[in-house]
Amino acid sequence: MIRLSLIIPAAGSGVRLGMKTPKPFIELGGRTIIQHTIDKFIDIPELGQLLIVASAQNIDRVRGLLSNFDRSDVDISVVEGGDERQDSISNALKFVDTGCDLVAIHDAVRPFIEKNVVEECIRKAMKYGAAIPGIPVKDTVKVLNDEQFVESTPDRSFLWQIQTPQVFKRQILFDAYDKANNEGFTGTDDSSLVENLGVKVHVVKSSYDNFKITYPIDLKLAELKVEGHL
Ligand code: CTP
Ligand code: MG
Repeated sequence: MIRLSLIIPAAGSGVRLGMKTPKPFIELGGRTIIQHTIDKFIDIPELGQLLIVASAQNIDRVRGLLSNFDRSDVDISVVEGGDERQDSISNALKFVDTGCDLVAIHDAVRPFIEKNVVEECIRKAMKYGAAIPGIPVKDTVKVLNDEQFVESTPDRSFLWQIQTPQVFKRQILFDAYDKANNEGFTGTDDSSLVENLGVKVHVVKSSYDNFKITYPIDLKLAELKVEGHL
């Protein structure tokens, strides 16, 4: 049986959303966003370890929310995050159980991830070493220069928007973070660190439902979905 360690980063402050409450603790239909997210993973048979990353002042708050989850065979802990998301993951990796084959990283603020996408990412990560979900971009994407003029227009058919969970063989992810830490390399997702290691990353087709709650309009959309209007 494959053993999976799941890291859920929840240590951000939600500047773009602009609310006082950090995003993972906002309630949707009587449950916090992070609880909705954990709901999607807690029954996965491969799950062996769950590491939630929280900022120092929210560690106890997360512990309180976790008491309702009943998986006695899963080692659940809360670890402290850092200034940037990459620092939060880097710290969580120190606590990953070395008995796990795979490590999955999923944003606390993507509560609508579908089980079949998670399962496919696990399958493809076992096969290729690295698998991430994504969707084809809807809009035309342009590369701009510093003066706000278009530099080029990449062919849209090759452009995909990438989401989480990003799933990797444990040692690949460890090596990728070691290399990034040594080089001072930063990326906007975990996959970019793995790509920087030279590993080929497989992309699993996901859906628009797995959006990240980032701006107020995303929160509105999330409310509509939880209320069953979408
Ligand atoms: N995150 C984290 N540690 C950080 C920054 C982000 O664990 N130092 C987490 C967030 O809590 C979130 C996920 O990474 O679950 C994705 O990040 P993002 O959507 O950017 O959330 P925030 O950083 O909180 O939002 P913003 O960038 O608007 O401030
Ligand atoms: Mg952020």
